[in-house]
Amino acid sequence: MSSVARSESDLPIQPLYDGAALDGFDADAKLGAPGRFPFTRGVYPSMYTGRPWTMRQYAGFGTAKESNERYHELVGAGTGGLSVAFDLPTQMGYDSDEAIARGEVGKVGVAVDSIDDMRTLFQGLPLDKVSTSMTINAPASTLLLMYQLVAAEQGIAGNQLTGTIQNDVLKEYIARGTYIYPPKQSLRLISDIFAYCHKEIPRWNTISISGYHMAEAGATPAQEIAFTLANAKEYVRTAIAAGLDVDDFAPRLSFFFVARTTLLEEIAKFRAARRIWARIMREEFHAKNPKSQMLRFHTQTAGVQLTAQQPEVNLVRVALQGLGAVLGGTQSLHTNSYDEAIALPTQKAARLALRTQQVIAYETDVTKTVDPFAGSYVMESMTDELEAAAVELIQAVEDRGGAVAAIEQGFQKSEIERSAYRVALEIDNAERTVVGVNKFALDEEEPYEPLRVDPQIEADQCERLEALRGERDNHGVLRALDDLRAAAEGTDNVLLPMREALKLRATGGEVAHALRDVWGAYVPLETF
Ligand code: 3HC
Repeated sequence: MSSVARSESDLPIQPLYDGAALDGFDADAKLGAPGRFPFTRGVYPSMYTGRPWTMRQYAGFGTAKESNERYHELVGAGTGGLSVAFDLPTQMGYDSDEAIARGEVGKVGVAVDSIDDMRTLFQGLPLDKVSTSMTINAPASTLLLMYQLVAAEQGIAGNQLTGTIQNDVLKEYIARGTYIYPPKQSLRLISDIFAYCHKEIPRWNTISISGYHMAEAGATPAQEIAFTLANAKEYVRTAIAAGLDVDDFAPRLSFFFVARTTLLEEIAKFRAARRIWARIMREEFHAKNPKSQMLRFHTQTAGVQLTAQQPEVNLVRVALQGLGAVLGGTQSLHTNSYDEAIALPTQKAARLALRTQQVIAYETDVTKTVDPFAGSYVMESMTDELEAAAVELIQAVEDRGGAVAAIEQGFQKSEIERSAYRVALEIDNAERTVVGVNKFALDEEEPYEPLRVDPQIEADQCERLEALRGERDNHGVLRALDDLRAAAEGTDNVLLPMREALKLRATGGEVAHALRDVWGAYVPLETF
């Protein structure tokens, strides 16, 4: 299986760019005005001169109560939007008291088993005023419905809610791994979510099509945007085939990319991604609404570029990566904590991460003008080159039958693994410098006291589940879960019976098991 060479390596950067780089450059066609097709310069006419990006720090650990406290701290420290990290059992559709969950409850994120936990998680937070991102994929519909039900208890209607579910299962088959059902059933569920939100929660961003995790697995910038946009095309095709009108759901698609320390290439990457997507949506899917053609995205600074050695140096890396995301026009940003390569971020490190964004937003002058690199010899050249490499790679995926077929052939995974191997070799041979690791290293690392997760969390969470099962109407729950199975077997939207089950305090695991009963669980292709 031939690789697509041009996208396999980082862009070569010339020591000097001059006017020749812009010979024949058609600014109208290539750039357009900010907020206008093809959106190269940004999705809004005023960008940050109108309003800064959303400072949205990914957070969540332990029980819903502990995470709720952290969310209040973050809102108090000036964060603009919430971003929920769930623990693995929640992400994989298991309850905290299942054997498979042992040792993972509340570890990499917050444990949410039922509507009770969701209610605690958002206690005291005005859901009609905050925008909440939830990093949840296969069980995204379950957590979204719990959130909507809790908002309804506060008297808040679906059309007053805004936020995002990641809901991007295709990248889970390629990287990260929190999938449950086979691709076909996962795509059906995602289309059901698009249709449900269009009707019930119209301001909700129904998916965050992610390149971040593929980048963290080793994808180059060209691979990151190409595989992400190829996945996005698969979602759009599936929703249209399910009978949805492209302009009914496309305005609420959103994206998620990484920001690496190589900020020139990253700024070019974001600009190229907007232009490619605008053209795909207008020319291939005939989207009429400009909002359907806008690639709005969240960025997280590169986790894999954080070092455990001399962790304070990560403060500098994250500042440069955050600056690259802003110069690239991100709508929402998470800056990593400097100690994340060692353990869960301490409160001080989390606050410093947010302060990094606030310095970029309020002390620099990069927010005073839109797309400051426009017309730059190097930036327009790199944007063009990245666009060409990504378009070629998107076509390579399409030639294999589209994203799902290519995933089943192991194409994206093997391309990313090839790039990851090359980068690892370059670091090992010190051809690629990592300060503090393969250059300027210390003989003796200084001591660091990480944050520890309380083992009592799992016992508390299991106790709460036992109480819930004793209090609720179990017959009603069983009937509601049977209705869910019936919908999954047929073509009715599964979110309606799912909502009824959750309202009766069915757990996330019970909902996922009901769907597993009908759809089965995905078993990955073994690629070597
Ligand atoms: N001019 C005019 N209007 C503007 C504006 C401007 N300059 N700036 C913003 N606005 C408006 C927008 O139109 C929008 O209004 P609308 O909702 O009515 O359309 C409102 O202000 C909010 O602006 P955005 O929608 O641009 O910003 P949000 O922050 O609300 O949304 C998003 C950003 C990218 C669209 C959204 O999908 C989002 O928040 N994504 C976050 C995803 C996320 O946090 N993921 C975390 C992943 S962590 C993970 O995966 C695990 C780990 O392992 C990495």
